[in-house]
Amino acid sequence: MELGCDKRVQADRKRLINCQQVDVNQLMPLKYQWAWEHYINGCANNWMPTEVPMGKDIELWKSTDLTDDERHVIMRTLGFFCTAESIVANNITLAIYKFVTNAEARQYLLRQAFEEAVHTHTFHYICESLNLDEGELFNMYNEVPSIAEKDAFELQLTSDIIQDGFSTDTPEGVQKFLENLIGFYVILEGILFYSGFAMILSFHRQNKMTGIGEQFQYILRDETIHLNFGIDLINGIKEENPHVWTPVFQQRIVDLIKKAVDLEIVYAKDCLPRGVLGLHAEMFKEYVQHIADRRLERIGLQAIYGSKNPFPWMSETMDLFKEKNFFETRVTEYQTAGALEW
Ligand SMILES: [Fe+2]
Ligand SMILES: [Fe+2]
Repeated sequence: MELGCDKRVQADRKRLINCQQVDVNQLMPLKYQWAWEHYINGCANNWMPTEVPMGKDIELWKSTDLTDDERHVIMRTLGFFCTAESIVANNITLAIYKFVTNAEARQYLLRQAFEEAVHTHTFHYICESLNLDEGELFNMYNEVPSIAEKDAFELQLTSDIIQDGFSTDTPEGVQKFLENLIGFYVILEGILFYSGFAMILSFHRQNKMTGIGEQFQYILRDETIHLNFGIDLINGIKEENPHVWTPVFQQRIVDLIKKAVDLEIVYAKDCLPRGVLGLHAEMFKEYVQHIADRRLERIGLQAIYGSKNPFPWMSETMDLFKEKNFFETRVTEYQTAGALEW
């Protein structure tokens, strides 16, 4: 009986980071219900890329019905995502997992790491289906400057955390860790993915490359939960460590987000040197700024751009994820429980 009481006391001491009191193997009792709910929602969305038929995409890709500019957008988008998914997965397992000391949050991180593996698998499957040059595609993060710069920006945030001796025991350490979480969940998965999503889903709306479009819808659905988990984690750590959320640190975060927005605008221009499908680079400047404002607000910072959303259909697309028959193949049946949060 005494031991039980002792365990309950320990459970009260479960913390998102720097928890010395509780064994991280002790899942129950849950303290952070949100972490468990994100895990359950993620599991309800199971899918595999190989279940999406690629016949129509292969036919169109081999035909002369796509312009060079349209092919360029698709290749640049695939080229960014195919390695960005691995960068996220490696950051989860090498940088985040070690320092998140709460069992239910770790349970979600394990689920997310699997989903990132599925996303990387998607680009392998697309590459094979369309018979793309894998060397060209998977090496764009070294060879295409607009992609390399986005990735270098993120990789720097990981390398800061995995250095020997790094810990979250000091306020500076907690700030560095929050910088990593914001850099990955809010910036990479929450901002730098979104022009790519809008570009590929624009093709899908015009009935072009619909297999890739459907796979991107599944990825976007997963990424929605990744973003929501990340924001809950960031805000939870802020609440438990309010002394680190100083005005100077808040400004550092705003500067990071501004830098990312600038990188994303350069990337969008590189993808769209001329307009295609009614899209042009200027629209992406507005869109990325609009998304960045929404992300800033969700971590308790003020919006800074005030740009309008040029793609209201993107929000509608995400609302449609809640509709039963939105997805075209049998993968829909895997959605067995829970509504998506957005
Ligand atoms: Fe992903
Ligand atoms: Fe993700």
